[in-house]
Amino acid sequence: MVMFKLAPSILAADFSKLGEQIHLVEAAGADELHIDVMDGIFVPSISFGMPVIQSIRGVSKMFFDVHLMITEPVRYLEEFVKAGADGITVHAEACSDLKETVKRVKEAGVKVGVSIKPDTPISVLEDVEPYLDRVLVMTVNPGFGGQKLIPECVEKVRELAKHRSSCSFSYDIQVDGGIGLSNVREVADAGAEVFVAGTAVFRGNILQNVKAFKEEVGVAD
Ligand code: DX5
Ligand code: ZN
Repeated sequence: MVMFKLAPSILAADFSKLGEQIHLVEAAGADELHIDVMDGIFVPSISFGMPVIQSIRGVSKMFFDVHLMITEPVRYLEEFVKAGADGITVHAEACSDLKETVKRVKEAGVKVGVSIKPDTPISVLEDVEPYLDRVLVMTVNPGFGGQKLIPECVEKVRELAKHRSSCSFSYDIQVDGGIGLSNVREVADAGAEVFVAGTAVFRGNILQNVKAFKEEVGVAD
């Protein structure tokens, strides 16, 4: 049986009530907390970094899924682990030596993921696939929350899921960007297991939103 997971992205949270809102998603049964770090270079926007992660580490036991949208993330891996990351996902496009970066994440003692932007083919994963815990297929161009899912990316999820099973890899497939109640079933059917959702979780009633997501994809409590 596939274990689906919901990972609310705090990028869409109200930062004046961050701790409170994290408690809410955790109490509602969210499986992981998705933490988007942006450097203003790899992506146009800047979000937040280690001090925020360190603070929220003190209020939550959830798995901290840190999505690094930063150039040459290898420079900061230890610092993110020290701040409280349980898993680190780097962008294939942001690393001059992807294989070395993946190795260094593993050496830092956390789960390792590699993310690809909508225009990046899955073939870039070839050298690192056997070592990965997760592949993040971006379903929007990274940089901002609240965008619309790009339908072609769902096909990419399907292609990756097929490839994963034909090669017997065991990483999970995560999707991020524009995921909501109207399309989560479709991406699940395409082969994704971990769903990041920002706007769709934090806009409106957080508790109800998380519960509705879990019902929609049948996430076990
Ligand atoms: C986009 C980020 C996403 C974003 C998702 O660059 O990686 O995690 O927060 O937000 P929504 O769910 O609003 O598209
Ligand atoms: Zn993200």
